[in-house]
Amino acid sequence: MHIPPLRLSAPCALLAATTLFPSVVLAHSNLAFIIINGSFYPGFDPRPGRSNSPSRIAWSSANPDAGYVGPANYSTPEISCHLSAASTPAHAPVRAGDNIHMQWNGWPYNHPGPILSYLAPCDGTADGCLSVNKSQLRWTKIDNSEPALIQQDEGPPGQWASHIMINNNNSWTVRVPSGLKPGPYVLRHEAIALHFAKDKGGAQNYPLCVNLWVTEGRMGLEEFRTDKGVLAQELYKSDDPGILVDVFRTMTTYVVPGPSVAPGAEPVGHREQRKSTSVRNGTPVRVVGTKTVAWTQETGGVR
Ligand SMILES: *[C@@H]1O[C@H](CO)[C@@H](O)[C@H](O)[C@H]1NC(C)=O
Ligand SMILES: *[C@@H]1O[C@H](CO)[C@@H](O)[C@H](O)[C@H]1NC(C)=O
Ligand SMILES: *[C@@H]1O[C@H](CO)[C@@H](O)[C@H](O)[C@H]1NC(C)=O
Ligand SMILES: *[C@@H]1O[C@H](CO)[C@@H](O)[C@H](O)[C@H]1NC(C)=O
Repeated sequence: MHIPPLRLSAPCALLAATTLFPSVVLAHSNLAFIIINGSFYPGFDPRPGRSNSPSRIAWSSANPDAGYVGPANYSTPEISCHLSAASTPAHAPVRAGDNIHMQWNGWPYNHPGPILSYLAPCDGTADGCLSVNKSQLRWTKIDNSEPALIQQDEGPPGQWASHIMINNNNSWTVRVPSGLKPGPYVLRHEAIALHFAKDKGGAQNYPLCVNLWVTEGRMGLEEFRTDKGVLAQELYKSDDPGILVDVFRTMTTYVVPGPSVAPGAEPVGHREQRKSTSVRNGTPVRVVGTKTVAWTQETGGVR
């Protein structure tokens, strides 16, 4: 028998464990932290009683159950960066071409689906991405986690990009395109759980946003275009083939929803995905006009 080159080792045991509790269907996950070149930046924990650092680069959201955004909100700004999302003054400095390691709090094995990433430039503000209007941000897709459906050798739903994420300690690596123009950007990272997607309104989107300050990369080409970005309210429709889909049937292809990955994007393939550990705390920056100020105790609280 032909063994596919990419095998996941743990899923059978995990699947057996999860089927013992078939009523456990809500994912409840959030961004634990991100790592850039070994530097640690905290995420946002929406659960009650959790403290969140004022220097976090992650947007806040009002989903105390760490739950999802559904198709009922696809035409609203709620789909941009999660429910009642609000930006933050801090931005993580990153070079064009560098990898960003997105660490989720966890992800259930029985929530198969794609992992998507987008960038939106924050133009025309004096504070980078702090005062942007999320309903006006224009998103350019940089990763579709292709092939999002890997295989169904042992029957549907099979193995998905979400299982690659689980196998890497619930994390996904996103590469900032090396041709991206320097400046402030919001990175929108998203997992879509499809276990209920057979029914209209059943897909579950988990968008997470973080602010970046992109500096010039090794290439310095400035050729990655973000001028065709799409408003969040126009990314998805409740009957897109990748949103209204029965993943418990045999499928030959899966069409990842949303716009296509932009030319010049450099998605990190399944085999290059790795877990990561940090070696130091990162120092975020605040954006002041076209410059940045390193975050310190003194400058941090002041806006
Ligand atoms: C990445 O971290 C190393 C130290 O671990 C440092 O020498 C290097 O300059 C850093 N690169 C960037 C782009 O920040
Ligand atoms: C849609 O957004 C509203 C307003 O934030 C929220 O109360 C509701 O739970 C959301 N529903 C879904 C399915 O996303
Ligand atoms: C795995 O992820 C958790 C957060 O969910 C983190 O605390 C832990 O350090 C990670 N371990 C490794 C080896 O990456
Ligand atoms: C954000 O943009 C939307 C759509 O253009 C607009 O209706 C809304 O008033 C804006 N919000 C703010 C605070 O400017």
